[in-house]
Amino acid sequence: MSQLHFIVFANEKGGTGKSTTAVHTAIALAATGHRVGALDLDSRQRTMTRYLENRDATTRRLGKDLPRAAYEVLEEHSEDGLAGAIERLAKQADVIVVDTPGRDDAIARSAILRADTLVTPMNDSFVDLDLIGQVHPENYKITKPSFYAELIWNSRTARAKQTGKTVDWVVLRNRLQHIDSHNLRRVGAALDELARRVGFRVIPGLGERVIYRELFPKGLTLIDLPQLGEVGIAHVTARQELREMVAGLGIPEPGAIEPIAAAG
Ligand SMILES: Nc1ncnc2c1ncn2[C@@H]1O[C@H](COP(=O)(O)OP(=O)(O)OP(=O)(O)O)[C@@H](O)[C@H]1O
Ligand SMILES: [Mg+2]
Repeated sequence: MSQLHFIVFANEKGGTGKSTTAVHTAIALAATGHRVGALDLDSRQRTMTRYLENRDATTRRLGKDLPRAAYEVLEEHSEDGLAGAIERLAKQADVIVVDTPGRDDAIARSAILRADTLVTPMNDSFVDLDLIGQVHPENYKITKPSFYAELIWNSRTARAKQTGKTVDWVVLRNRLQHIDSHNLRRVGAALDELARRVGFRVIPGLGERVIYRELFPKGLTLIDLPQLGEVGIAHVTARQELREMVAGLGIPEPGAIEPIAAAG
């Protein structure tokens, strides 16, 4: 039997695209044969839940069989609540995609501790980068890692001690602009340096596109557009970018047997 794979989208900074990338990842994985559970820890904004509710309504309206994820929002904000929600979703899923709020939150930290893949979407801006590392004002070299890098570092150490498992920390460069700029290159260089020091991978996320803002009311993703007969050239490029992002996350194939690191 394959093991449950946990993907947690987390960044204490708000508005970096956690919910948007989490929903797109969940549906893209479902489309390639994974059984997906989506757990929304942001019980205030409920973006992922609202997105998937809209998707259910569209599926019913169109009478189409679109890829789907089982989903749940964390109603009881406690460790027991988290464990219960995971247990329920695990019955229907081999991958669980967790969306977390854009603020420090004890339950989100617990979810991070369980992550096999931890995804931190960030925008190409030194403001966003500042949570992970600080840069020198003139040469933009990393002066020191920041609190969020420390938090993940500590979480990773604790997880290794408890379970013998490691976490694959992936920083997504999200909402990438399609124009080259000094800023883009400087942030990229600083991120690469930090990646080596702190131990994460950097992959391209989604581009900055209006379509990502428009799909929410229908609960659709770029994966669905061809099914609905809506394929413009921009959509094809965007869907390719989504597929590359999901491939970059390196989630085990459905049914793949993962090595068990710790015995007992
Ligand atoms: N690739 C993109 N292109 C254009 N707009 C985007 C993209 N990704 C996200 N957005 C928009 O940016 C805003 C924030 O995105 P989202 O809600 O996914 O971020 P978040 O990290 O979940 O926010 P929060 O921290 O508040 O939970 C939304 O209006 C969303 O539609
Ligand atoms: Mg969100």
